[in-house]
Amino acid sequence: MNSREIRQSFLDFFKEKNHTIVPSAPVIPHGDPTLLFTNAGMNQFKDVFLGTGSRPYTRCADTQKCIRVSGKHNDLEEVGYDTYHHTFFEMLGNWSFGDYYKKEAIAWSWELLTTVWKLPKDRLHATVFRTDDEAYEIWKQYLPETQIHRCDEKDNFWEMGETGPCGPCSEIHYDRTPDKSGASLVNAGSPDVIEIWNNVFIEFNRTADGTLEELAAKHVDTGMGFERITAVLQQKDSNYDTDIFEPMLSFLSKQSGKTYQTTLEDPSSIAMRVIADHIRTLAFSIADGAIPGNDGRGYVLRRIIRRASKYARNLGFTKPILFSLVPILTNQMGDIFPEIREQESLIQKIILREEESFLQTLERGLERFSEVISTLPQHSTISGASAFLLYDTFGFPLDLTTLLAKEKGFTVDEIGFESLMKEQKERSRAARVSTTIEATKEQSEYTTTFDGYNQTEIEATVLYVKDNTFITNHTPFYVEMGGQLGDSGLVSVNGNSFKIDSTQKSGNAIIHIASQELDIVQGETVLLSIDEQRRNHIQRNHSATHLLHESLRRILGTHVQQSGSLVHPDYLRFDFSHYQKVSPEELQDIEEMVNAKVMESIQQVTLELPIEEASKVSGVKMFFGDKYSDTVRVVIFDENFSAEFCGGTHVKNSSEIGLFKIVSEASIASGVRRIEAVSGIGSQKLFKQISSTLSEKAVEISRLHDVIKTYEKEISSFHVQMIANSFGELVQNATHIGSTKFVLQQIPDDISMEQLQQLGDKLRNALGSNGIGVLLTIQEKSKAMMVGVVTDNLLPTIKAGTVVNALAEFIAGKGGGKPHLATAGGKDLANLPILFTNAQQKIKDLLA
Ligand code: ALA
Repeated sequence: MNSREIRQSFLDFFKEKNHTIVPSAPVIPHGDPTLLFTNAGMNQFKDVFLGTGSRPYTRCADTQKCIRVSGKHNDLEEVGYDTYHHTFFEMLGNWSFGDYYKKEAIAWSWELLTTVWKLPKDRLHATVFRTDDEAYEIWKQYLPETQIHRCDEKDNFWEMGETGPCGPCSEIHYDRTPDKSGASLVNAGSPDVIEIWNNVFIEFNRTADGTLEELAAKHVDTGMGFERITAVLQQKDSNYDTDIFEPMLSFLSKQSGKTYQTTLEDPSSIAMRVIADHIRTLAFSIADGAIPGNDGRGYVLRRIIRRASKYARNLGFTKPILFSLVPILTNQMGDIFPEIREQESLIQKIILREEESFLQTLERGLERFSEVISTLPQHSTISGASAFLLYDTFGFPLDLTTLLAKEKGFTVDEIGFESLMKEQKERSRAARVSTTIEATKEQSEYTTTFDGYNQTEIEATVLYVKDNTFITNHTPFYVEMGGQLGDSGLVSVNGNSFKIDSTQKSGNAIIHIASQELDIVQGETVLLSIDEQRRNHIQRNHSATHLLHESLRRILGTHVQQSGSLVHPDYLRFDFSHYQKVSPEELQDIEEMVNAKVMESIQQVTLELPIEEASKVSGVKMFFGDKYSDTVRVVIFDENFSAEFCGGTHVKNSSEIGLFKIVSEASIASGVRRIEAVSGIGSQKLFKQISSTLSEKAVEISRLHDVIKTYEKEISSFHVQMIANSFGELVQNATHIGSTKFVLQQIPDDISMEQLQQLGDKLRNALGSNGIGVLLTIQEKSKAMMVGVVTDNLLPTIKAGTVVNALAEFIAGKGGGKPHLATAGGKDLANLPILFTNAQQKIKDLLA
């Protein structure tokens, strides 16, 4: 069977046993702050086990994408160095929610393994929790007692994390030893006898103080490592030898020119296994909305990329290579998990960008590392300061430095490193100003109902007062959540009103923070009123954010995912994943789409639905990392356009938003863009600002225009004067027709008509009492313009117009003007030489 058939046969088997087949939850858990990544199939059912949520079925099965790189379940260090650990793996699981229990769970595991998959019974071992006689007795029906083992808490009491559902478990192990002699290797960490399936009997909840609370019902939670069972069924010694990993390993082998070997010792093969493993964690978590970054989940991803990059370098790769594995993975798993196909190009871009940025410092960091260890005695400890420098300057995560150190036989002072990290964090924390109060445990024990979806003013009873803070049983005040700022307003009691500046949530309580100490007492009735106008401005921007989000997805693509937002009365800010600058044309299209939806006057519809139903609303957007309760609000603007899980407040009709205008677009982190925009009053303010800027500019421009004019005039007269300076000499060297001086001179090109006339006047003066002068300039390389002047004494005989017309005839032109000064033009420039040659004769004829 190939791996695809194995997965399917598991699901078919449990479908036959009346299980509902459900989809895998995302690897980024939403609604569970105790987890960075989904680490087991049961995570998505935690609420059912704890009795705080329910499902429409009591039996289900799935294949769940799991990541084990942090917290209680962390397999990172093992990966690559053994045959069966992974940071990302699929967990095949079946569940009973207060339905069947140990007998059926064990019977069905046995049936699937031995009847459907025909695994040899003498290779199977079962473990039970040391006190679980019930499970032991059930197993005795299937296995000899030599193949049933009682184990303690370490192996047979399964817990999800530090807190949460848990219970005794019964594992099934597979013995690969040639002579089936593996009994003593069960739970001994040997690749020859590996755990393939875990049946957990969930009976307890581990609370934060460490105690076990019995649950109201008993449940079954099972998990089978898909990659392991595939290796067993395909009779491979290593998970990496199955068809699940083969395509990636052969690509790496081909690209690096190194042969892949199953053996555990070969460094190149270790590197290939690590890379093939890590790329799956990266691709699936990015597909589900995570982005590499500097803290929390983002930093785990960044560490994994850097770890994989370092192994790629061990294989000889000096250029990015990890990103090129993504299409191979998509090809292989895109049918089962379509999200990686849909996000393929985004995943590639994010990984490539991260690889590129790390490769810029990797080489220098490695040099620095060599320098550090060259000064140390062998097998000694690298100081926290050196590890911190590698982190801070070269981007080496601590685990990478530890890994490099281990390869060379050194250790790292991790405590020293952590304390430097802490100092750095404190320095940056000190630089931030706190605007919130420190909520007390007492405050968090109260419950406030939020009535502000449809009321802006209500009477409420005071439950708690301290200094300038108080809690009431009801409130119209929104608390900052999902990016929407909290409300401000007034509290009135006994004729006195106090300003409420902000609100803060603590547990289920909404704490009002006033600007001064309050004269109110517990039990009193107060009137709470929010600043309605401010709230309306906020709502416009919040609804505009929803329309913007959908428009971004329609114009840029469905890879766009919200990574943050701020809804302020004056503007909105929206951060989203996108790997290049949004072009001006795209921004325009986005803006137009939002404005079209505004003008459609869409009536807002909010549905309050159980989360399962809500998640089925067509095209609904929900956000990873957000905690949703059993019932969620879905805010819809046109069922074919925008539907989002949202607890915020909104306009009743899209037309209230008014004009939407994007103000800026920029990158805020690798692969994350930020758009800032305005709507409603914000747009009005913006346009007022633009138009007053424009009128200021207009005044400024006209002033500049005048200045330019003055300068132009000055420059022009300067130019004229420069040319005129040569007239004295020109006249001196003039030819004579009888006693009349005659001057014909070409002056620089592109002299304007006005200048030409001024020059004519100056020449006429220079000519003195008896002369004729003509100046000629070529304008725009296409025509000749002339000015002709005649001194007073000649006017009875000849006029300036006659002179210029006579000369212009040579170049197919004509002109006119006053008796003493006239101008003419002509276009036949080719004949200019003829004009110059014959001019004197022509004038002589005219004077005769
Ligand atoms: N939740 C159990 C496990 O992860 C099945 O092993």
